Amino acid sequence: MIFPEKFVWGAATAAYQIEGAVKEDGRGQSIWDTFSHSPGNVADGDTGDVACDHYHRYRDDVALMRELGLAAYRFSVAWPRVQPDGRGPANPRGLAFYDRLVDELLEAGIAPYLTLYHWDLPQALEDRGGWTDRDTAFRFADYAAVVHDRLGDRVHDWATLNEPWVAAFLGYGNGVHAPGRRSPADALRAAHHLLVGHGLAAARLREAGAGSIMLVVNSSPVLTPAQVNDPAAVPAEADAAAVDRVHALLTRQFLDPAVHGRYPEEVLAAAGRNGGTGHLLDGDLEVINAPIDLIGINYYNPCVVEAGPGLPADAAWPGSEDIRFAPADAPVTAMGWPIVPDGLSRLLVRLSQDYPDVGLMVTENGAAFDDVVEDGRVHDADRVAYLRGHLREVGRAIEAGADLRGYLVWSLLDNFEWAEGYRRRFGIVHVDYATQVRVLKDSALWYRDVIATNRL
Ligand code: NOJ
Repeated sequence: MIFPEKFVWGAATAAYQIEGAVKEDGRGQSIWDTFSHSPGNVADGDTGDVACDHYHRYRDDVALMRELGLAAYRFSVAWPRVQPDGRGPANPRGLAFYDRLVDELLEAGIAPYLTLYHWDLPQALEDRGGWTDRDTAFRFADYAAVVHDRLGDRVHDWATLNEPWVAAFLGYGNGVHAPGRRSPADALRAAHHLLVGHGLAAARLREAGAGSIMLVVNSSPVLTPAQVNDPAAVPAEADAAAVDRVHALLTRQFLDPAVHGRYPEEVLAAAGRNGGTGHLLDGDLEVINAPIDLIGINYYNPCVVEAGPGLPADAAWPGSEDIRFAPADAPVTAMGWPIVPDGLSRLLVRLSQDYPDVGLMVTENGAAFDDVVEDGRVHDADRVAYLRGHLREVGRAIEAGADLRGYLVWSLLDNFEWAEGYRRRFGIVHVDYATQVRVLKDSALWYRDVIATNRL
């Protein structure tokens, strides 16, 4: 399989997961600092205090990227480094880090893909309500403008939010992520304000001349158990309705307003039953509908559902109380996530049909496995198989007509996997956290060859 000539190959990371240096150069506190330091929230009591120490080792890490031949590197900017309290004048020392990083990348011939929000909200804003407070959306747009002002001359590709579903529904719904709030009504409000923030920021970036603007979502094809291994399986009517509703809550909740300027009925109904729709103000949909160039897709596994009997209500899924989330008949990764490579092509083809005027990019795809270092090597055959299987499906989606511009592996480095801490390793580069020694896993060497030949 040969990929299109300009297909963009890369890898992704996020600030809190790799940087460390949480108290340096005037960085303020984020909700993930607070959350990870509260016992019981993160496995093994891990925090991002040191992480991969990327803040000090970014030069070496960019050298690794160069060795792999990456054309693009997606990273996120830590809002509390730029505005320690989430508002007001920029902290020049915080911005200077990204300035150095961007220069180092450009020097190595690697295009920076900059994500503005990968979940590390300044704690000072959370103290005023966080994403449940409408004002946070305006603060986010100001922050976007500040970052663009400093880096816009060199960064062409911008993403506003990473996975707003996760930020809203795990952060404010079931409390598995920071800030750890547990309220379906708050989660729905937060989701809306994240979208308003996205729209306001996209407009500011556009005005400032940003080259390309993207919204990154976690999306999955929603399937019945039978459809996992048989795409042609025809579900019973009640199961098909469950599938449609979950697709609306997971993916359309974000992409329909952003791309089409309207909310799915299912989302309005869920809000109606959880706190109401009072936070949806006239004019919001026009704001959210700011033009974007790309949709970023983070894909790991399908979402498998069938009609009830419902499990005890999961606060992460208001609106799906009568739907059963089912296991998939498929092998799983160390996260317990089912491995269904053709879920990716099914998803990409569907999204390219539903949002035909916007390009697509796989902004994350990858897997955690229990890697071991043997004689200085990591033989992660299962990760190679995972990536190969998914890349084949990327090729299939392109052949089927999806306007897919590139593929970024999650992740460049093993890193802080949120509530799972450091025990789950997603990197194609192994990190020994005691010594900070990096080792290219077999998957990295394999990926280097894919990139070099542009074929599978
Ligand atoms: C998506 C998130 O954006 C990223 O931060 C996370 O580490 C991966 N999924 C794996 O869970």
